[in-house]
Amino acid sequence: MGFEEMWRDLAPVGRSAASGGYFRQPWASAESELRAWFAQECAARGLTVETDGIGNQVAWWSPDSATGKGVLTGSHLDSVLDGGAYDGPLGVVSALAAVDTMRGRGFEPSRPIGIGVFVEEEGSRFGRACLGSRLVTGATTWDEARELRDRDGVFLADAVEVAGLDPSTGLLSLEHVGTFVELHVEQGRDLFDRDVAVGLASEIWPHGRWRFDFAGQANHAGTTRMEDRRDPMLTYAMTALAANKQARLAGQRATFGRISVEPNGTNAVPSLVTAWLDARASSDDALAEMVDAVGRQAQDRAGRDGTALTVTAESVSGSVAFDPDLAARLAGLGDWPVIATQAGHDAGILADAGIPTAMVFVRNPTGVSHSPDEHAETADCLTGVEALADVLEELAR
Ligand code: GLV
Ligand code: MN
Ligand code: MN
Ligand code: MN
Repeated sequence: MGFEEMWRDLAPVGRSAASGGYFRQPWASAESELRAWFAQECAARGLTVETDGIGNQVAWWSPDSATGKGVLTGSHLDSVLDGGAYDGPLGVVSALAAVDTMRGRGFEPSRPIGIGVFVEEEGSRFGRACLGSRLVTGATTWDEARELRDRDGVFLADAVEVAGLDPSTGLLSLEHVGTFVELHVEQGRDLFDRDVAVGLASEIWPHGRWRFDFAGQANHAGTTRMEDRRDPMLTYAMTALAANKQARLAGQRATFGRISVEPNGTNAVPSLVTAWLDARASSDDALAEMVDAVGRQAQDRAGRDGTALTVTAESVSGSVAFDPDLAARLAGLGDWPVIATQAGHDAGILADAGIPTAMVFVRNPTGVSHSPDEHAETADCLTGVEALADVLEELAR
């Protein structure tokens, strides 16, 4: 099946009729369907899929001509809540199509070429970004991860079991991976502004998630005088404004995109507001400074509001510089610009684990991502497939 047919087949899986966005949560039905779809597409190409104990998948094209460490490509199939179609699946579908392209060209790899799919890249269910690749590289251990809970209180260990997987059977081994290349839709407008369809990644900004728990006192919305309140929503609101100002002044990024409120009633001052800060900056120091500054301002505000604040770091990733020699070598294949990204990727986790890694970006004309409005033109996706095939041939010849 060609790129466009595969893309058409995936289009309805996990799609919301209301928004047109995708809900492909890990270890739930849409994602299981995608995992089965991937295995079937690999089988149709004569590739056998290995699924590890938590749902990561890999299939190797390893003809007799291929020896030594392999070149792995691929991405993820899960989405954020109400996400776009391209973030993740574009890298997987392009990898399958690139294998067809290389075969069509009569290319005989001298190294194995693998297609990988990592689970829970978005961290949208259990809160840890790139959880599948972190577990595979050992950046996170199963003993730490198994106790994570989703929004409904389900433990990760139970979710994995319900999905029919068994972590005791082991995780993917990266022992035979010599290089990793992830193709991804661009999540900003850099390529669009440069008027090119394809680019490569130089670096990923350091980024992370911090949970802010603001505790106050539940009380009556009518009878409690304004000056008598201990209102955690107020502390949270001022913190969100402070974070936004801090990031704007420093040229960094700060977002509160998720909050939960208890008891969440219209006519009561809340007892607890939990809000998650997603912060990203151009250097590790700048990130630490920004998060510290937001935390200090939040503490100060909590003191004045009579509320109590605790801040907990969750899934923090340091800055990643992709292999510069590799990027320079690949950039020459197509005159592709090499650009930085503020989005996290499994490629960053594998690069951190010492695997020479590159990323290929495909132009996104809306510049919008983590939203149903994310887009890539079919012609650009097909250009991306050709580019990925060129890259894989260069690395596996
Ligand atoms: C993942 O896509 C992230 O950067 O949040
Ligand atoms: Mn992604
Ligand atoms: Mn994403
Ligand atoms: Mn990502």
